[in-house]
Amino acid sequence: MTPPRADASLDAQGARDTADPARLAIDIRNLRKVYNGTSAVDGIDLAIPSGEFFGLLGPNGAGKTTTLRMLLGLTPIDAGSVRVLGMSIPEQEREIRARLGVVPQFDTLDPDFTVEENLLTYASYFGLSGPVLAQRIEDLLGLANLEARRRSRINTLSGGMKRRLTLARALINQPELVILDEPTTGLDPQARHHLWRQLRRLRERGVTLVLTTHYMEEAEELCDRIAIIDSGRIIACDSPRALIAAHVEPWVISLNADAARRFIADPSMLPARMLEIADSWLIYTADPAAVRAELDTAGLPHSTRAANLEDVFLRLTGHDLRD
Ligand SMILES: Nc1ncnc2c1ncn2[C@@H]1O[C@H](COP(=O)(O)OP(=O)(O)OP(=O)(O)O)[C@@H](O)[C@H]1O
Ligand SMILES: [Mg+2]
Repeated sequence: MTPPRADASLDAQGARDTADPARLAIDIRNLRKVYNGTSAVDGIDLAIPSGEFFGLLGPNGAGKTTTLRMLLGLTPIDAGSVRVLGMSIPEQEREIRARLGVVPQFDTLDPDFTVEENLLTYASYFGLSGPVLAQRIEDLLGLANLEARRRSRINTLSGGMKRRLTLARALINQPELVILDEPTTGLDPQARHHLWRQLRRLRERGVTLVLTTHYMEEAEELCDRIAIIDSGRIIACDSPRALIAAHVEPWVISLNADAARRFIADPSMLPARMLEIADSWLIYTADPAAVRAELDTAGLPHSTRAANLEDVFLRLTGHDLRD
């Protein structure tokens, strides 16, 4: 298996080599940010073509939010360059802002206003008014499933409702690029699926989407390409399927810790690679039948599944998802 770090910047730049530069929604080169002598972002290269659904994954503190904030001109860049929709940050920040939507990691809704007033205030930044504005507000209240709460104050909403309203607010200017920093954290499964549907619709309409998430299944489900970031660097970048094929064995057999201990007690049965996660052990293998046969012979209960993005994440970052 090739070391991930060597390949990653090539993969991350790959889109730049093949895409027309004018078609890049985001073009980041050697981006850096240092806080108190420590690199939060340590030389990131990223080329995201227009219309792509791109995911940024990484453990807590990896540098995802800092990268996105530099893209938005909210955090000053220490070194490197950022172009968004063909324009430069920070010089053309205002023009860029007019054409993009943002769902920040932490909600910035105005608590003194109602749901509808929050949308109206935000719309005023984009000069929207009259029937166009009225229709837009109705559409977005519908999208967020908050019609019945339009006159509710923000502090009376649940966490999930605030998240939905924040997404609706991000779409008020019909952006061609939407940046979403953990948009589904704290949402219940129905609300998450509802939001996925909205995001897929945006993708179908040609909107470029950049998302961070700690839910690997969400990234696998939605994203065309994913960059895994650790300690401010991209350590892998590709489609979910290609990442799985390149970095982990195709099958994962899990057994509880007690069974694993008995299994490991017999070295002749030791498989190529095992990983301890909380109360269970994972065996990664290309030959599940052989491993299962051994486990069955030893009378050890187990279950088998296909490898997924979470396995790639664990392998490359060596962390649990929420450390
Ligand atoms: N304003 C700041 N001042 C000092 N350090 C900061 C600041 N913002 C971020 N950092 C540091 O930069 C690093 C990257 O933080 P960042 O918020 O980008 O991580 P993240 O990948 O978004 O993590 P999470 O998944 O927890 O949201 C962390 O070590 C963090 O402590
Ligand atoms: Mg973050």
